[in-house]
Amino acid sequence: MKGRALSILRILKDGQFQSGQALSRKLDCTRATISNSLKDIHSYGIEILKIRGRGYCWVNPISYLDEDLILSYSIINSDNFCLLLFDSLDSTNTYLLSYLEKYKFSISKIPVVATEFQTNGRGRLGRSWHTGFGDSLTFSIGWRFEKGVSALSGLSLVIGIAIARVLNSFSIWHVSLKWPNDIMFDNQKLAGILIELRGEISGPSYAIIGIGINFKLSEIIKSSIKQKAIDLSSLSKDIFDRNLILSALLVELRNILLLFSDLGFSHFKQEWINLHAYEGKAVSLILPSGNVIEGTVDGVFDDGSICLMTSAGKNSYHVGDISMRLN
Ligand code: BTN
Repeated sequence: MKGRALSILRILKDGQFQSGQALSRKLDCTRATISNSLKDIHSYGIEILKIRGRGYCWVNPISYLDEDLILSYSIINSDNFCLLLFDSLDSTNTYLLSYLEKYKFSISKIPVVATEFQTNGRGRLGRSWHTGFGDSLTFSIGWRFEKGVSALSGLSLVIGIAIARVLNSFSIWHVSLKWPNDIMFDNQKLAGILIELRGEISGPSYAIIGIGINFKLSEIIKSSIKQKAIDLSSLSKDIFDRNLILSALLVELRNILLLFSDLGFSHFKQEWINLHAYEGKAVSLILPSGNVIEGTVDGVFDDGSICLMTSAGKNSYHVGDISMRLN
């Protein structure tokens, strides 16, 4: 979305009417430019009502992410985090990675990048991650480890636990995990995690941990997602405050990352297995090569790899996508 369209949305976020003339005055541009920007906004599925004589009004405006609000909640210690909030980015992971590279990975606070919209949101295994403007929580957090990247296997599983714990704390129950790191509800995807690692074999290393949680997806976005997706608004009548949930997530992520740095994945293994939707189930594992392994899930190992009982015996797998077998 172009900068002018984003500025119009900021003006309309209070849900009040604004005339075309007022918008063009505030943004110092012609009425034709305003009208083109409104078409741009419309193409993203955002509904702007136009009434002759009154002007334009955003029908269901979002509550924007707000740094003061996020840091104001008493659960969070604002000294720990450096928050960077945007209306639109290509991808929070990509942005955070180049930000860290620019500062040579030496930042005293924990950097967090969040945005209302991603033009090139990325998922696991080279896939895209689709969300609409302000309909999700899309953010990335950077974490420095003294250990090397090889000691970080299991990290993405631990992040899944942190998300499940926070959702439970908001009375969102029956959340489960799907190896390696999908957050599921009733076999539908509620959130995803993308971790990108940088650093030396012997350490230190840096993890860019990207998280996308669906809050209120439009039908257009749902239909563009290949997997079955669900959002928080379908799970409860409560209206969830993204600022509050982000705040709680940052606190939980910091706690869990500190423990993971000290104790590794083995400390969390049983909690993860208890949350696994497919534990003990007959599954197919599709490897990146396209080969399919069939087996029954028998927990995970201390390095976060999945353990499958196959016809050839017990084996561990580090990468791939699992799905339940129906026969
Ligand atoms: C997956 O399930 O495939 C992982 C999805 C991860 C999406 C998040 S949204 C914030 C961060 N930025 C990205 O481009 N991707 C991650």
